[in-house]
Amino acid sequence: MRKKVVIGNWKMNMTAEEAKNFLRFMSVEVKDDEVEVGFAVPYTALWASIDAVRDNEYIGIAAQNVHFEPRGAYTGEISVEMLKEAGVKYCIIGHSERRQYFNETDEAVNKKAKVLLENGITPVICVGETLEEREANVHMGRIEDQIRKAIDNIDVRFVDKIIIAYEPIWAIGTGKTASKEQAEEMCSHIRYNVAKMYGLNVADNVRIQYGGSVNESNAKELFEMPNIDGALVGGASLKPTFTNIIKAAR
Ligand code: 13P
Repeated sequence: MRKKVVIGNWKMNMTAEEAKNFLRFMSVEVKDDEVEVGFAVPYTALWASIDAVRDNEYIGIAAQNVHFEPRGAYTGEISVEMLKEAGVKYCIIGHSERRQYFNETDEAVNKKAKVLLENGITPVICVGETLEEREANVHMGRIEDQIRKAIDNIDVRFVDKIIIAYEPIWAIGTGKTASKEQAEEMCSHIRYNVAKMYGLNVADNVRIQYGGSVNESNAKELFEMPNIDGALVGGASLKPTFTNIIKAAR
């Protein structure tokens, strides 16, 4: 049985002070382990956020990126050891915004997944197609390609620790959610591809989230689909009503 995992991706929002206040509130609201809850906060808010949820074992803090090299001359980058020292539980990699604006490649995503797994941090690997790809009916192949490259040659003992987030680019920040059928079709396709690479048992344990304009009105119907194991939530995770999305995953 896969436990649902709902992660808020704050992107470039929330100062450390704001994060601390918001997470203290969340810490009171999230009181059981029925759903796994995470917040992907900006680097500058990592320590304050981890401190704010220190007494709450049900909330984990995520980073939004990592560099795959252990150290060195990479101005502006953060290593996995730095994330580990802070106490990070998850790390988003391959988000479409990073692929689009910062040239993150499938190869880099694969390297990042490996260093995170070797260091006990859960990668949240994002994949997703553009509207043009969907309209040209090449979206299934596009996601298959992203998955194959992202999880290529990973130690099989680690594969079921990975979380995959299917985030169609046309649904991010647009208010245009994928229908539950579209989201389920792709999440099932992702699971099938993981199974082709690592076997059915492993694929059965991998959690696959949907992301893209998830809100408190559409979350429940998405979570009821058999291959959707939670959500990666942008805008709606910045508001106290995010608790309703967590409740919908129960
Ligand atoms: P929105 O929920 O704001 O559409 O963002 C989705 C997303 O990109 C989460 O990573």
